[in-house]
Formats: sequence, C-alpha cells, structure tokens
Amino acid sequence: MESKKRDECCPADKPENAGNPINFKFRLECSLKTSADATIAADIVGAYIDEANQTILTKGAPEGQGAKVTAWNVEGDRINLTFESGRHVRVHDALLRMRKPLAAKLGKDYKIGVRGIEVRSYTIEVPAEKELPKMKIPYVAEMTYENGNIRLVLDVDEAAMSNRVPDRILSLMEDKLEQQTYGGKTEHWNVLWQSEKKEHTFSDDPTKAMVEAGWIKRGASRGQWIHGPQSTKMFRTFEKIVLDELLEPLGYREMIFPKLVPWEVWQKSGHAKGVYPEIYYVCPPKTRDPEFWEEVIDHYKVTLEVPTSLIKEKIGDPIGGMCYAQCPPFWTYLQGETVPTDEFPIKVFDRSGTSHRYESGGIHGMERVDEFHRIEIVWVGTKDQVIKVANELHDRYMHIFNEILELEWRKAWVTPWFMAQEGLTGVAEQTEAGTTDYEAVLPYRGEGAEWLEFQNVSVNGNKYPSGFNVKCQSGEELWSGCSGVGLERWASAFFAQKGLDPANWPEEFRKRVGEVPRGIRFL
Ligand code: SER
Ligand code: ZN
Repeated sequence: MESKKRDECCPADKPENAGNPINFKFRLECSLKTSADATIAADIVGAYIDEANQTILTKGAPEGQGAKVTAWNVEGDRINLTFESGRHVRVHDALLRMRKPLAAKLGKDYKIGVRGIEVRSYTIEVPAEKELPKMKIPYVAEMTYENGNIRLVLDVDEAAMSNRVPDRILSLMEDKLEQQTYGGKTEHWNVLWQSEKKEHTFSDDPTKAMVEAGWIKRGASRGQWIHGPQSTKMFRTFEKIVLDELLEPLGYREMIFPKLVPWEVWQKSGHAKGVYPEIYYVCPPKTRDPEFWEEVIDHYKVTLEVPTSLIKEKIGDPIGGMCYAQCPPFWTYLQGETVPTDEFPIKVFDRSGTSHRYESGGIHGMERVDEFHRIEIVWVGTKDQVIKVANELHDRYMHIFNEILELEWRKAWVTPWFMAQEGLTGVAEQTEAGTTDYEAVLPYRGEGAEWLEFQNVSVNGNKYPSGFNVKCQSGEELWSGCSGVGLERWASAFFAQKGLDPANWPEEFRKRVGEVPRGIRFL
C-alpha cells in the first residue's frame, strides 16, 4: 500500500505506554419490563442487587473494578436500573449476567416474569487529548467532546447488546485513539539480510527504457500495461526460473484460484476490515434480460457515449472485488474440511490471473500498477512445518537472486501483509508469524532512495485455517504461509539494475531467456 511511514529504528513499534488500557467509563440506564406490577418484590430485588454487586458483577475483573448497579427502583411493571462500569465487566454484560438469576427469583417467589429490556441511555466516556474528527459509527447516536473526554451516546437495544455491539465500538474507539496519538500508519521495518553492494551497468528508469525499446505500451485502463512479445518472454522466463529452481524441486502443485472475490471471503480473511480504498469493485447486472438493457444499448448506438449513470441504476450492489491478495479465495477450497494429518504440509501455487489494486494517482512506471501478475505460493501445515517451508523458500530465493539474477537486494522484517491490508500497523502477535519483504535498489533513484519491494514471504500464523475453519485430523493447530512473486516487480528490479541489453545480463539469466523475440513495428 502507498505512503506508509517507516519506523526503522525502534525495537518496539510504539512508545512504551501504548499497551496501557484506556480508562473507559460505561453507564447504562435501563428497565426490566415485568409481566405484572413488581412493587411487592422490591425488597427481593434490592437484596439481589446488593448481592450481585459483590459477586457476579465483579467476577473476572481486577479488585474493585467490576460493574455496579448504582441506582435502582421499582415502578409498577418496570425495574429501573442504572449500571456503571469500567472496561472489565461492561455495563451490558452486567445487565445480561443479572437478568436470568433475577428473573428466576421473581418467578419463583412472585410468579412474575421478565418480558424484556428497555434501554433509556447508554453512554461511554473516554479521556482523549483532543476531539476525534466527525465520523459515522453504527449505533452511535452522538459523539461530543468536553473537558478532555469523548462522550458517546449509543442507540442500542437488547439485541445489539447481546450481539456485543458495544464491545466492538470500544475496540474501534481504541484503534482510532491509538491512531490519533501515534500518528498515521507506521510500517514496521527491520533489515534482516543484505547482499553486497554491486556496480550497476544501468542507471535509467527501466519502464522508460522498455517503452522506448517497444517492449511495453500503456493499456487503456489506469495503471495497466500491455506487454509485447519481448517483455512477455521476460515474464515467462521469470516464471520458469521460479518453476525450475523452486516450485518443482520443492514439490509444489499448481492450482487455479478464483479471481473474483466475494465479500464472504474477505470477511474471513480480514480484508473486509480495511481494503476498501484499493478495491476494484464488481457489480453484476440486476438482470440479464436484454429488454431491461435496451435503453442503455440504444443510448450508446445513438450517442456513441456509454451512459454510465443509467448503467449504475441497472447494476446490483457490489458482490465483492477483483483479486487483490491472490491467496484468500484459495481457502474456500479447504473451508470447513478436516484434512488427514499426512496430507501436510500442503504446498500449492497459482499463476492463473491478474491482481488488481486501485493505486494512488499520478504517473507510475511498471513498478506500481493497478493490474499485475504474480505467482502466489501457499502452504499449510503445523506451525513447525510452515516455518520450515518458509525457510526452504528463503534458501531457494537466495539462490535465484544471487546466482541467477545477480541482484543487489535485501530482506526486511515488516508489518505483515495480512495486518497491513486490514489497516493495522506493528508486528504480528504470534511470535514467528510475519512478513519478510524482499527489496532491491533502483539505481536510477539513487542508493539512498526507497528500495523496491519485489516480493515477500510470510508465515501467516493460524489466521487462515482458523478464519476458514480448516482442521487437521490429529487435532494439532494449523498454520499457513504465502509468498507472492510479483512479475512486474521482478522486472522493475532486474532491468533497473541490468538494463535491456542482453550483453549486460548475468549469463545464467541470458541462457534461460534464449533469443529475445522480435517486437511489433509501427510506422
Ligand atoms: N498474499 C500476499 C500479499 O498480498 C502475498 O502475495 O502480499
Ligand atoms: Zn498470500
């Protein structure tokens, strides 16, 4: 993703107090509706509340930090309750914890039932240095800032409280406050390995050189290229290197992953939490009845303009988007399955289609495109297997980049892609899970300028097997990993350092390319 700030120095990602919990104050005023006048049961209610304040409302919270009923009365067929709490046992939890036992007492002693809950007010207060920008959050009716506190008024009913909506609002507020305190995205970055410095025979922008040599042309769509025979041959050679030197010797099997990704996949992969600004959305027609579309067709035939506003009316809501990260839609294949233990590690790859990202505006070369080609390598197994497979890949890549492509490159431990794509920063909580980026110097930008990330290797922890509910027969926890080989990125790195003249290419690469095909000439 674009414009991430890098945190290159610090061992930890955030200042020391970043992990400290924020001091949230919850307050809930509500009524339990009873099936009959409950005034006669007031004493029992009072006694029960006194007991609950000492017992079930404090359970699980540190000493003195449980929830409390701070006011109550009985008014006809209403038991009015006011709860206050911090973050540990939250007011809606307190209410739900009390509801059943209290109803049991009223039922037993007075044959009075509890019919439901009426919420009069639910507020959350949280200290904050400054106001948050105006925003729309579901179930938040009001957000104000006063005396160093943000105050949220929630519009929640019994169902929303049982569905833990207030808990998710709390997490969302924590994220937003953290972002406010520690600034925008700070990508973690830590160099792990670096090749020796190399003399480069080339110092131009490789995209420019490829355009001038007639290898590539811009496509009609944003950030899209058409690869002529010469450039295509280079991509196929890169693929062949990966196949011959890595995928075949390591026993990977080729699969074909879907390239249209519906929301349900991104809900399970976590992308639904953050990827919206970069998706190419997909909308199906409302119907395929030609009559329904006749107006659009006729409009085009008469004006030669495509009536996009009219089309908008005739297509449905987006069902998802075009392939973005490449591995998520694979997981539907394993979803809900229990796999025999000896099937692991499962090692597969896909190179069946393009990935699409709505990149930042402005002119970019082939190193930053909206449509790109990638071999996506995926493996699944126990934690030990997954880590071992990642290390095997690292070894094979090392061989390819040092002995075949002879690049100047380095490896860095970065914010895992599966977190970055959810809009998160930092490093993965599960130790040993995370992403290693491979980066190459671009001589035309200068040694000190930003290096180009040309591929990655990630151990993704249990995120995918757990998100897609995949089990191992032995019951052992499953982990997975993936590695994206971006062909546009490989080309940008390689040709930036070596140029287009085969005479300057490493022998091992030249040999594998063979003859560079003739391009198509123009007058
Ligand atoms: N799925 C990973 C990513 O999107 C590897 O390609 O970065
Ligand atoms: Zn992946």
